[in-house]
Amino acid sequence: MSLHKTPDFDITVKLSGLTLQNPVIPASGCFGYGQELREFYDIDMLGSFSFKGTTLHPRFGNELPRVAECAAGMLNSVGLQNPGIDAVVERELPRLRAVFHQPLIANIGGFSVEEYAACCEKITQCEQVGIIELNISCPNVHGGGLAFGAEPDCAARVTEACKRVVTKPLYVKLSPNVTDIAAVARAVEAAGADGLSLINTLLGMRVDLKTRGPVLANVMGGLSGPAVFPVALRMVWQVYEATKIPIIGMGGVSSARDVIEMMLAGASAVQVGTANLIDPYACKKIIEALPLEMEKLGITKLRDVVGGGH
Ligand code: FUM
Repeated sequence: MSLHKTPDFDITVKLSGLTLQNPVIPASGCFGYGQELREFYDIDMLGSFSFKGTTLHPRFGNELPRVAECAAGMLNSVGLQNPGIDAVVERELPRLRAVFHQPLIANIGGFSVEEYAACCEKITQCEQVGIIELNISCPNVHGGGLAFGAEPDCAARVTEACKRVVTKPLYVKLSPNVTDIAAVARAVEAAGADGLSLINTLLGMRVDLKTRGPVLANVMGGLSGPAVFPVALRMVWQVYEATKIPIIGMGGVSSARDVIEMMLAGASAVQVGTANLIDPYACKKIIEALPLEMEKLGITKLRDVVGGGH
C-alpha cells in the first residue's frame, strides 16, 4: 500500500486545484531535471519537483568556484546554468516522462519581462507541467532574477505579463533579500499570481584566509541549508498573514518535523533543497517519516494543519 493511502494518515495536499500525493517537493537547482536522482530511488513517490531554473537561452553559469560550505549551510553562485527552454521541452521533459508522473513545477528565470513571458508561453503548453514557478529571486545573475523580485512594482509587472500567457497556475518565487517580503507578496497577488514560493537563498559571502579574497568567483552567493530555516519560517508566517493565495514554503527544510512546522506557519506544500545535496535520499526519508511524526503529533490529515499556528 502506498504511503499516502495508509488509512490512518492522509499526507495528500492541495495546490491550486492540484492534489499532490504528499507535500514534499525537491527545490529548483537541487534536483536538475530529475535524471541524476532517479538513479537513487523511485522519484515518482515525490509530491512534485521543481526543475532547474530555466531561461529562454542556454546558460553556462558563473565562473568556478561557485559553491562554498558554511556552518549549517552552503553558498551557491551557480548563475542559472541550464540548457535553455527549447532543450528542456524537447529533451528533458520527454526523458522524465518515463519515470515521473506527478504534476511538475517549471521554474522559469529571465533577464527581461519579454523573456520571462516567452518562456512561460512555451512551458505552459507542456502537459507534464502542473505549476509554473516564476523565479524573480535568483541572487546570482546581473540584470535578471532578483532585479525583478526586489521591488513590488517590478515584481508585479513581470507577474502580470506572464499571467497573460499561461494556462497553468502561476506561482512567484520570492526573495528574502528585501526589507518587506509581505509587500512584494501582496503586489504579485494583486498582479494575478495564483500562489507564492518562498524563500530563495539569502545573499552572503566568504573570504579565503589564504588568498584574502572572496571564496566565490562571483564574490557573493545565496545561503541555504538549516541555517536559514528560522528566517524562511518567519517569512512564510508573514506572507500567510498578508495574502490569500497558497504558499509553497522552503528554506533549510531537512526533516518531516520541519515540513510540519512550515505547514503550521502557512505553507500548503514544502520544498526541500540543500538537504538533497547532503543526502540524495533526503526527500524519500522525509516522506516516509511523515506518518510517524503525524502520529506523534496527533495529526491524521496533514493538509488540516496549514496555517494552524496562527
Ligand atoms: O545561481 C543559480 O542558479 C541560483 C538560482 C536561484 O537561486 O534561483
